[in-house]
Amino acid sequence: MNNSDNLQDNSETDYSKNYSVKVTTRRLVAGAAAGLVLFAFGALIHQSGVWDKMYSAMGGKDDSLASRNNAEDGKARQAMLAARAAQKKDPSAPAPLPPVGHDGYFEPPSEAEIPKGALGEAIKRGRNIFVDTPKYASQYVGNSMACAQCHLDAGRRENSAPMWAAYVQYPKFRSKNNKINTLEERIQGCFTYSMNAQASAAGKAPALGDEVYKDLMTYMYWLADGAPTGENMRGGGYIKVKATEQGYDWKRGQAVYAQNCALCHGADGQGQKDANGKLRFPPLWGPEAYNWGAGMARIDTAAGFIKANMPLGKPYSLTDQEAWDVAAFIDSHERPKDPRQSGTIEEARQKFHADEKSYYGKEVDGQIRGVGVSRGNSATAVASATVR
Ligand code: HEC
Ligand code: HEC
Repeated sequence: MNNSDNLQDNSETDYSKNYSVKVTTRRLVAGAAAGLVLFAFGALIHQSGVWDKMYSAMGGKDDSLASRNNAEDGKARQAMLAARAAQKKDPSAPAPLPPVGHDGYFEPPSEAEIPKGALGEAIKRGRNIFVDTPKYASQYVGNSMACAQCHLDAGRRENSAPMWAAYVQYPKFRSKNNKINTLEERIQGCFTYSMNAQASAAGKAPALGDEVYKDLMTYMYWLADGAPTGENMRGGGYIKVKATEQGYDWKRGQAVYAQNCALCHGADGQGQKDANGKLRFPPLWGPEAYNWGAGMARIDTAAGFIKANMPLGKPYSLTDQEAWDVAAFIDSHERPKDPRQSGTIEEARQKFHADEKSYYGKEVDGQIRGVGVSRGNSATAVASATVR
């Protein structure tokens, strides 16, 4: 989770630079020559209803694209599919372009586009695991988190480390473990830290080769349909919030939290369940949250996520200063221990947390953080973490 390379690789500037320059060039060349033809063709098949038939033959519903946020959304994807169909008939037809929407972000397929058959079934299983991990991969989840709580819109939302951008980045070198990581290994890391697998029934993340990964990766492959391999895509990863003059301060963050976050995540940070006991708002600290080894436990990573995604429905409403401070506040609380800690906290701090912005192994209100809380000792631990 918390690797320094991600921070560099995934900064927004990197993504926008690499991606938009290439796309723009490609568009100028291919677009000028073929854009009109393509557009006319797209409009034609759209009007003729051929599109709708093609679409439902693929397992889609006619109104699927209308369910997107914006009337413009989905058009780039339609154009890509149309170009694919055209090229099938005539190999010299213009190559399909990656589906990039009016906002400059990649357009993954919508739910209604999940194909029929064995592949579609695997995609759905992967989607279910992603959205409701405690239900569909229960033996490997040691907290109350689901993948989609940090990778929003079921892994679609830009700047919440969307799966379409991740899929085309692997295999990749990570300084966190100093080796080439496959996508499967990367997901395993998320189980270990974000899902706190140490406290799960299995006691650890699924072994490499497990069906859980197969289904998740099939889902991600499908979400990335049309994404260029190896490209640093705009909106991939989390954004990087610029350092502020005042730095970060959890005490200032407490007020930001009370005003902007407590309504949903609770004054005690434990989230909220609905009448059926299903979690509606996820916990931010304590035994049911991500552990000390997770990327989100780093203040800079959390600040990037929060700035672009929280409060839910009001992205970018916090100032940079508020994002830093509230990230510091939530990450100043106890949570499950870092599973890599075998000796003392100080040893683990030096080995795994030395260069990072986190409270691991540091004092907050006179107490060293990183001790960890587990479900068994939650009552006291949460209370002491909350009362200041
Ligand atoms: C507590 C929040 C959280 C949860 C829960 C979580 N992740 Fe992540 N995930 C992150 C963070 C933080 C990163 C690193 C993003 C960065 O640094 O840009 C990440 C990165 C990833 C990446 C690599 C993204 C990239 O662009 O390289 C993948 C793949 C991924 N997560 C999959 C999953 C899956 C699958 C699950 C569920 C089993 C999951 N995550 C659960 C927070 C979370
Ligand atoms: C309107 C309700 C709402 C508000 C207000 C809100 N959140 Fe969230 N937050 C959510 C939901 C819901 C999710 C899970 C994502 C999803 O289901 O789409 C989430 C996810 C998160 C996550 C990642 C998952 C986790 O539990 O670790 C963090 C961190 C987070 N919110 C922090 C904040 C912070 C900080 C604020 C205040 C600045 C805030 N949220 C305000 C509803 C809210």
